[in-house]
Amino acid sequence: MTPTVSTSTTVCLENVTKQYWQNGRCTTALADCTLDIRAGEFFSLLGPSGTGKTTLLNLLAGFERPDSGQVRVGSREVRGAGPDRAVVFQAPTLYPWLTAAGNVAEGLRHLRLSHSERKERALHHLAEVGLEHAATRHPHQMSGGMAQRVGIARALAMQPDVLVMDEPFAALDAYVRREMQELAVRLQQERKVTTLFVTHSIEEALVLSDRLATMAAGRVTEIFEVDAAHPRDVTAAEFIALRRTIADRIESGVRAEREQVR
Ligand SMILES: Nc1ncnc2c1ncn2[C@@H]1O[C@H](COP(=O)(O)OP(=O)(O)OP(=O)(O)O)[C@@H](O)[C@H]1O
Ligand SMILES: [Mg+2]
Repeated sequence: MTPTVSTSTTVCLENVTKQYWQNGRCTTALADCTLDIRAGEFFSLLGPSGTGKTTLLNLLAGFERPDSGQVRVGSREVRGAGPDRAVVFQAPTLYPWLTAAGNVAEGLRHLRLSHSERKERALHHLAEVGLEHAATRHPHQMSGGMAQRVGIARALAMQPDVLVMDEPFAALDAYVRREMQELAVRLQQERKVTTLFVTHSIEEALVLSDRLATMAAGRVTEIFEVDAAHPRDVTAAEFIALRRTIADRIESGVRAEREQVR
């Protein structure tokens, strides 16, 4: 399926190019990349390392600007970071001197709320991710999974229009990772926040996504629709052909990039 642009979508990248210069050498991280993400959908990006996934997320988050093309959320062009787009990174970026509740409340600073209102909201969002018992813990007293839950609670507390997640579960062990995937599915079913999620795991993308895209050399190569109810057993026979096709698409991207380098 060729990516197309329509005006009714929430997130839109239109012919976006982003290059980096380092020591006199130019790297094209995104090359005329076009992508649409529909309102309320969970959308994943898959692709080999260095193919521009994080760059795409950074442009959407507003941490960087494209060299050409446009990134829009709704009808607004993204010109910088803003509380309408919350980001969850692979390593949770919590303030070590704040408790779990303090870290979540910190994400609410842009709202004009009293201290007690912020605290109340923080506790509500911690409960949403199953951490009501850990509100007073500091990051050094948390497991990796707990810290990542706090990061997600902080992002959701901002009530963003768009949630951007860059390999958020990659550093977790298999069991905790599955728990976090269940949490992500539950939150998505309850909240329907438009989500852009990057992962290296085809399985994870299939468990979570409404649609997913494969990327290669700074472009989207194909978009796949995952039309199955949750919870999904992606090891089931019905997923085998789809997994194979996605893996083939990613591998051909890797081969194409190797040939370009030669
Ligand atoms: N700040 C930067 N300065 C120079 N080059 C950069 C910078 N950020 C990214 N790049 C380059 O741009 C390309 C795309 O990088 P990006 O981080 O978007 O890839 P990725 O798909 O997220 O990879 P991974 O799966 O390893 O996280 C890579 O070649 C990378 O080296
Ligand atoms: Mg990356």
